Amino acid sequence: MRVNPEYSEVETLLYNPCAPGTRFGISADHLPEQLPADIEGFHCHCHCESGADVFQRTLVHIEEKFSRWFPQLKWINFGGGHLMTRKDYDVDLLISMMQQFHQRYPWLKVILEPGSAFAWQTGPLVSHVVDVVEDQGIRTAILDVSFTCHMPDCLEMPYYPDVRHAEHVEEQNGQYLYRLGGNSCLSGDFMSSWQFDHELQVGEEVIFEDMIHYTTVKTNTFNGISHPAIGMLHEDGKLEILKRFGYEDYRNRMD
Ligand SMILES: Cc1ncc(COP(=O)(O)O)c(C=O)c1O
Repeated sequence: MRVNPEYSEVETLLYNPCAPGTRFGISADHLPEQLPADIEGFHCHCHCESGADVFQRTLVHIEEKFSRWFPQLKWINFGGGHLMTRKDYDVDLLISMMQQFHQRYPWLKVILEPGSAFAWQTGPLVSHVVDVVEDQGIRTAILDVSFTCHMPDCLEMPYYPDVRHAEHVEEQNGQYLYRLGGNSCLSGDFMSSWQFDHELQVGEEVIFEDMIHYTTVKTNTFNGISHPAIGMLHEDGKLEILKRFGYEDYRNRMD
C-alpha cells in the first residue's frame, strides 16, 4: 500500500507526490491501527534525482509516521528517485542507513526502485539547426526535435538540460542568444533563452546532454512527429543506428 510521509524535498510541485491534495498514498492519520490482512508492505516514493542525504532526512519522517505499523508488514519499498549513480552520491551513507534500518526492523525486506539512475548520463539527444528565424527581436533556432514530443519535462517543469556550447540565461536579447524552437505544430514548443558561444549555422548540431532516461520513456508522436532514432556511438567514432522511427509508426498505431 502506498503511503504518504507528508515530507518531500522535491521543490517542483509537478514532481512532488506529497504536495497538498496528492492522489499518491495514504497519510498516517487515515490508517487503521490494524491493517487489512492482505496488506503486506508499504510503498513510499517521494524522491526525485535525490542524494542519500535527502533520503536520510526523509527516512526520519517515514519512521516517525509509519513505524508503528512495521510489525504488521513483510516489506517496505522506498521507491525511486535515488540517484545512486551520480558522481557525488554518497553510496556509503545509503549502505550504512539501510544496514541500520535492517538492524532496527530485521523482519522487513527493503526494496528500492530507482529508474533514472540506471540510465544517468548514458546518452545525449542530438538535434540539428534547420533554420534561424526572428520576430520582434527574438531569434529562434528551429531544431529537428520537439520539446513537447521529445523533452516534455522542458516545458512542464520546466527542466533546463545542459546544452553543449550553451548556457541557459534570463536575458532575452544579446549576441548568440537564441530561443530553441521545436518542430511540432504547438506554438509554445520552444525553450528560452540560450546563450551560445558562437553564431548558430543551419545544419549544425545542438546537443542536449543526458536526455536518454526521460526521452526514451516520454516521447510521443503528436501530430506526426517521429520519435528520435536510437544509436550507439562506438569508441572508434562509428555511429551505429539501432532503431529508426518514421511516419509509419505514427500511422500504424491508429490504423
Ligand atoms: C513509484 C515510482 N517508483 C520509481 C520511479 C522511478 O523514479 P526515478 O526514475 O526518478 O528513479 C518512479 C518515477 O516516476 C515512480 O513513480
